[in-house]
Amino acid sequence: MLTLEEARKYLPDEYKDKPDEEVRKIMDDIQGLTELAEFCEKNGKLREAIRIYNDALVVLYERASAEANIKVTTTTSDICKKTKGLSRNRFNEAMDDHYDSIHNAIRDYHLKDGTIFKVFQKMGDIYSRMARPLKAERLYKNVKTLNCFWMSQPNKLIEELKQGFKLDIDGDHGIAHWWRVEKIGIYLSRGTEADKSVIAEFAFIHDSCRENDYDDPGHGERAAAYAVELHGKGLTPIDDHELEQLVTACKNHSDQDYKTDDITIQICLDADRLDLYRLGEIPDDKFLFTEVAKKRETRDFVLKLLGK
Ligand SMILES: [Fe+2]
Repeated sequence: MLTLEEARKYLPDEYKDKPDEEVRKIMDDIQGLTELAEFCEKNGKLREAIRIYNDALVVLYERASAEANIKVTTTTSDICKKTKGLSRNRFNEAMDDHYDSIHNAIRDYHLKDGTIFKVFQKMGDIYSRMARPLKAERLYKNVKTLNCFWMSQPNKLIEELKQGFKLDIDGDHGIAHWWRVEKIGIYLSRGTEADKSVIAEFAFIHDSCRENDYDDPGHGERAAAYAVELHGKGLTPIDDHELEQLVTACKNHSDQDYKTDDITIQICLDADRLDLYRLGEIPDDKFLFTEVAKKRETRDFVLKLLGK
């Protein structure tokens, strides 16, 4: 974190004579930190701006983890200790679980406060100005692959979907199912090239046009058309290829004979099928595309989401 002396050095002139407590206040405050970083950026102090934005991220991560009651500061060596004597796979899984909880905490926090997105974006922009394309790309990619969907306009999209939903929003195909499909999809996509933005949007849109909770053969087609409409309204920040994947996944999600090699679409459909556990049904392996969806750990993950 930035020291008091460094902060004083970077501060705008009008802050130079302020007492220590006031400077500390700025350093603990996201608004203060982002203003300070912007000031540095404006004055060409790009490295300093990056450091300050990093501090802002640490504060935001800490707030997110406190709300979610998880420890973001767990380190690799903590996890090594926890999994000592166990296989390398157990270590990798523990690391994945750890990153998943951070990811979820940050995403949930973002739903209330969009600052994390802005900080990522700002840092990416500065790295671009510093001609550090790889770093900039990684940050933009973080935003996109981790949270593109959530860091854009999730509330607007969800509000729109809820308003148009004709069934009981708390029913079998309502909002709790949408959230679980999203969480299961993100879980299945770990370590793959699957597009998380498409998976998240599929989760929320695929059942949104149902007209009953039973056999509704047209609901996939209607959801596909609705996805195009929502995209036209700027509520789904994806590119043309991603939209095509989303439309295909929505259209075919209830067709058990449908086949595809596209890992993103496979995961969308597997995630939806795995949530059959909510209805007391056991998903049949022969209708699941990915190997990870058939694993016992995955079933346990879904049952945990369902509180079973
Ligand atoms: Fe569904």
